[in-house]
Amino acid sequence: MKVQNKKKIFPSDFQWGVATSAFQLEGSPHADWTNWDSCLNNKPLITGHYNLFREDLKLLKDLGVNAYRFSLEWSRIQPREYTWDEEAIAHYQEVIDILRSYSIEPMVTLHHFTHPRWFMERHPWHRTASIEKFLRFTERIVSTLKGVRYWITFNEPYVILLGGYLEGVTPPGLRDVPRSLVALKNIFTCHGKAYDIIHRYIPDAQVSVAHNMSVFAPWKRWNPLDRLLKKTANYFYNHSIINAFQTGVFIVKFPFSRAVEIEVPIKDKIDFFGINYYTRIHLRFNPFKKMGVELRHMDIDGNGLTNLGWEIHPRGLEKVLRYASRLNLPLFITENGIASHDTEEKVKYMKKHVDIVERCLRDGLNVRGYFYWTLIDNYEWLQGLDVRFGLYRVDFETLTRTPTFAATYYAYIIQSRSNM
Ligand code: BGC
Repeated sequence: MKVQNKKKIFPSDFQWGVATSAFQLEGSPHADWTNWDSCLNNKPLITGHYNLFREDLKLLKDLGVNAYRFSLEWSRIQPREYTWDEEAIAHYQEVIDILRSYSIEPMVTLHHFTHPRWFMERHPWHRTASIEKFLRFTERIVSTLKGVRYWITFNEPYVILLGGYLEGVTPPGLRDVPRSLVALKNIFTCHGKAYDIIHRYIPDAQVSVAHNMSVFAPWKRWNPLDRLLKKTANYFYNHSIINAFQTGVFIVKFPFSRAVEIEVPIKDKIDFFGINYYTRIHLRFNPFKKMGVELRHMDIDGNGLTNLGWEIHPRGLEKVLRYASRLNLPLFITENGIASHDTEEKVKYMKKHVDIVERCLRDGLNVRGYFYWTLIDNYEWLQGLDVRFGLYRVDFETLTRTPTFAATYYAYIIQSRSNM
């Protein structure tokens, strides 16, 4: 393939990566989620990645990435409350060693949505003991695994709270605002303390969360209530976490109610900011919906909708990067990708978003990495196995992996734009 010869904007140490999560690739007999979604009954090991990991890591080498974000399946490492599985720890160490042998920088996520079943049954996030349990896991990992500098403590902490404590669609399946606020405090307390533990063992570590950011818009521009919802959602979803990292206080404020302030020990406990960006969401006030809000994806710019019905809105990536740049920290796009059976759609999505990153770099934004979601087709939370985010297509019967043109194209993007 011919490589363009235009001025390279991406810095030589820019991290070109892909992102995955353990459970979505390999399942786990001990995870809370295994029993949560019956679609996993027939495919508990999903893509079989836990056994096929060497072959899958080789795909990263073929792509030419220099970074890889992946998570540890806590329930494999600590299947029972007082039992550690040393083989599972050794397994993840082997993953890291292989990556290092390919000169690929590992970025490890400690928590990506799933928990050991015993944790969810006995110490879910609204109980104080959750803090000690998570930190014990963190310390065990950080004191044992060698060769990791980049750490994500929590993937999408707000999504954990929305799904588990407000909508009740993910474990622990509650719809309980007061408990959601306690869980928020406990999760972010864990982040702050995990930050210290990681730095104690690895002084030059780089630690963050991967925060899901979205662009919000009023359904009807002329409607003041829709505009108010947009403002509220934008503040809460995108800005309140940034403020909390700057001040150590979460301010939760909904229209027509008093603000709630929650102190958390996270002030300045962040070395870079991880952003997962996928889409824009339109909002309208609807008294018949939960909390008076109705969400919708609309194809306003003609970029289309993904297989999950999400609006493709590349310009939104620039917006959220600008919001996050308030932190004055290196920014990493820790996830960006599209669910589609159509490879051309994937290629277009990827190109448009990478173009935005390039423009942001030209404008001086401190973007240091782009991680495509995801390497191979996987299990999509509550949506099953036919949501195709992968650069490689997985046949879930034979477990064979086949490159799509999007894999070739990502390799081309990396080659043509990087100064590696
Ligand atoms: C999550 C992934 C998920 C992806 C697509 C992100 O919010 O971190 O686990 O598969 O979105 O829905």
